Amino acid sequence: MANLHPSLKNKEFWYKDITLIPNRLPDFERDEVDLTTNFTKRIVLKTPFVSSPMDTVTESKMAILMALQGGIGVIHYNFLTIDEQIREVEKVKRFMAGFVFNPITLSPKNKIKDVFNINEEFGFFSVPITEKGTLNSKLVGIVTHRDIRYRQDMETKLEKLMTPRKKIIWAKKAETVSQNNLDLAIEILRKNNLDTLPIVDEKNRVVALVTDSDIRKQSQFPLATVDENKRLRVFIAVESRLKLAKERIKKAFGVGVDGILIDASVVFKEQIEIAKFVKKNFPELEVVLGNVDSGEMVEKILKEAHQYCDGLRVGIGPGAACITQQELGTGRAQASAVWDCAEAIKKLEPKYGFIPLIADGGIKVPDLAEIQKPGDISKALALGDQTVMMGSLLAGLDEAPGEKEFDYEENKMVKKYRGMGSIEAMEKRAAVRYGIEKVKIKIPEGKVIKVPYRGSGYDFIPKLIAGVKQSLQKQGFRNIKELQEEADIRPI
Ligand code: XMP
Repeated sequence: MANLHPSLKNKEFWYKDITLIPNRLPDFERDEVDLTTNFTKRIVLKTPFVSSPMDTVTESKMAILMALQGGIGVIHYNFLTIDEQIREVEKVKRFMAGFVFNPITLSPKNKIKDVFNINEEFGFFSVPITEKGTLNSKLVGIVTHRDIRYRQDMETKLEKLMTPRKKIIWAKKAETVSQNNLDLAIEILRKNNLDTLPIVDEKNRVVALVTDSDIRKQSQFPLATVDENKRLRVFIAVESRLKLAKERIKKAFGVGVDGILIDASVVFKEQIEIAKFVKKNFPELEVVLGNVDSGEMVEKILKEAHQYCDGLRVGIGPGAACITQQELGTGRAQASAVWDCAEAIKKLEPKYGFIPLIADGGIKVPDLAEIQKPGDISKALALGDQTVMMGSLLAGLDEAPGEKEFDYEENKMVKKYRGMGSIEAMEKRAAVRYGIEKVKIKIPEGKVIKVPYRGSGYDFIPKLIAGVKQSLQKQGFRNIKELQEEADIRPI
């Protein structure tokens, strides 16, 4: 653990109450700092950022942004139907891949408008055309962006404009997919200057494809958090009610989700049943439990559920849109919660193994859109958590759901950000998060606020990353492990 000043022990403190003292003589450049960390036991991130499962923060666009920048997004469940949430997962998993194993295919009888619809939903134009219009059916042609970009005649059948089978360059499954040889597929793609390379089995049935845009994305975003097939990783939040969560988890697994975050403002026992259900039925999935805010809680939950828990979320009521602490007189100063939980989990490591912590909430919103405050992030990491989860800091980005608007009082552009415990959010599904979906009188634990509009996350997140690296460099630490072992944390 880092060195926490004795005057802070047994005290409650926020990030603003502490500072990190530089004691070393750094002899390396800022960009040599390595921020690699664990989100869960098995999922490693190159950037320690996680976006909150909130309906004004994380849907597919935010999850794509976070994963491309080396972090990860957790898609909220405050949709009217389960399928809407699953669709968002699908968009992330389809954003890029090495081999695309579940390409959308059409039949020669489909029309140009069907390709435009696919583009609108998933953002791509290349579609293999198969005899039956399904995967594992014979390849008869291909349609790419070049074939239709200027077409207005939406009702024209694809058979009239597709590149026919005999003119298509394709690769054999036995030489590529079966041998996990993506390099060969890329070589064929590049040598022939193709947008898309279909891969077919010995009976000429389409089994996968490789696209040039995927390959380019991979080199453009070297930090990206990807699975074994180079698809972006993504988590979903599920409610802490076994019956409701079951269906959601099954469906999300079907479209390739990487893990489940069981969402509640305070961890409760039913979470353990859900975690067991996941581990028994879908052992490939990682499971995050929470929230906790003290060493005692960490000990209790791990005693019962350490074998089903791959990550724990820390923080009760520190969020920018939270009112739990004021309304209910419960919760905790976030920095002391992070320290206490980290200390406890470290002590329990010999017994239960390594379980990463996520410092959730309280990373402060700066007043001006141009200013970032990565300082709070470095403090959370120094106090012992492996990643930070952020809501309000990200809600002002273009990639967060909702439109920007002009605030005449503040004279600036803003976006709406709402706590999942606000009455407005609970009108949909979110009351489950607070265990009060069945009761008539609902006490809100969150509010609706406005946050500064911050533009594109593709500009903002790299600055935030650079800021965290600079903080570590200033203190002379090359990585998060060194920071967590040696940081000198003092009161301000
Ligand atoms: P920040 O400070 O990053 O916090 O905006 C995001 C985290 O806040 C939590 N959250 C809530 N907590 N009432 C609460 O007490 C709420 O209505 C609420 N909504 C979200 C959540 O943990 C999130 O990640």
